[in-house]
Amino acid sequence: MERLLVKGGNKLFGSVEITGAKNAAVAILPAAILASEGVCVIDNIPDIEDVQCMEKIMRSLGCEIQRNKNEFVIDSKSISSTDAMIEEVKNMRASYYLIGALLGRFKKARVALPGGCHIGVRPIDQHIKGFEALGATVEINHGSVSIQAEKLVGTNIFFDVVSVGATINVMIAAAVAEGTTILENVAREPHVVDVANFLNTMGANIKGAGTDVIIIKGVPTLKGCNYSVIPDQIEAATFMIASAACGGEVTIKNVIPKHLESITAKLVEMGVEVEEGDDSVTVKREGNLRGTNVKTSPYPGFPTDVQQPMTVLMCLAEGRSLVNESIWESRFKHVDELKKLGANIKVDGRSAIIEGVKEFTGTVVKATDLRAGAAMVIAGLVAKGETEIYSIEHIDRGYPHIEDKFRSLGGDVTRIYK
Ligand code: EPZ
Repeated sequence: MERLLVKGGNKLFGSVEITGAKNAAVAILPAAILASEGVCVIDNIPDIEDVQCMEKIMRSLGCEIQRNKNEFVIDSKSISSTDAMIEEVKNMRASYYLIGALLGRFKKARVALPGGCHIGVRPIDQHIKGFEALGATVEINHGSVSIQAEKLVGTNIFFDVVSVGATINVMIAAAVAEGTTILENVAREPHVVDVANFLNTMGANIKGAGTDVIIIKGVPTLKGCNYSVIPDQIEAATFMIASAACGGEVTIKNVIPKHLESITAKLVEMGVEVEEGDDSVTVKREGNLRGTNVKTSPYPGFPTDVQQPMTVLMCLAEGRSLVNESIWESRFKHVDELKKLGANIKVDGRSAIIEGVKEFTGTVVKATDLRAGAAMVIAGLVAKGETEIYSIEHIDRGYPHIEDKFRSLGGDVTRIYK
């Protein structure tokens, strides 16, 4: 069975390039469905399973897609189906963006209910509330969402919770609604801004992305454009944490340091040196790590997607650390795996209390979800001896060529194919 074998103990040195952001790419690709003229040429798309899944789904609808390394050329003019019901739709979370994109372009869609990491209940009520406010009728039955509208009309929508997915999905549909839509209490994540910028490059009129109010003046149609996806904040944070955990000195290139501020601040608090460049951060750690407290929250707070890798670092820090996971109610499945390596962690509801340990010892663990998988790789890199990581399909959903990137820094990570 495919797995990663990690031999721990090496410090990390050198530089690593960060690729395009997964959570931006998986929204920008379906948003390209809105282009009824011209083609979208989108660069810096990461080579990950979730992107391959989205590509397959979009082809099944009739999109013509050409790939040249990280560049996708998407022609959506000849889409022949608004039914996204193939198996891949259920395997990934971001397939919910097909609802907003197909609704915007064709005023109807049938999309299988999305899957994704098992990190808690993942409702889509806020997406539906937004679509209904724009004038759509929504039915959920037999595992799919059926949606239609005679026309979409702009309105004011106040989201009950700050949701990345609902913000992006409703923004995609509202870009081509009649009149003005005002979205309030929206997510401010960098990928929300990236999708808004992409839609604007296609001809949309969206202002305010990155603040908590987004104003969208609907336009009748959108057309193809050239665009490049922003760097992946979470992949960058993962390498920052790995470098801090292993010790050594690593420059993480092709990043937007501003997007990493909450991570940089925590690392510095823990005794790690972080130097920001224009589009890079250098992480250096020589002394002992100090324990700290982390509470996850929407951007610009500490990202929930970095909580699991960060837990590894806290395990190796002196004293007690605390994690409060405020976004997902069961994003602690990595804890049992870390305990197998020697971690001392107690989970109480949405909190984890971590007592620092001197070292980890390698053993067999599994990636219970995407970021838990990244946490296992970091833990393996610092553990004494060998760590075997199973269920690595979760890691491949979001990290391109993780073993090659760590090997280039001196980390001993090998993919075993049988
Ligand atoms: C996105 O998920 C990301 N996924 C997640 O990344 C990330 O953890 C999450 O945002 C938070 O940053 C993608 O972008 C594909 P939300 P999303 O809607 O959009 C509640 C990773 O590791 N909620 O912002 O599904 C929800 O239960 C993944 O890359 C509602 O109540 O998350 C949660 O508590 C995992 N109703 C909170 O809002 C809704 O309709 C935030 O969820 C929608 C959400």
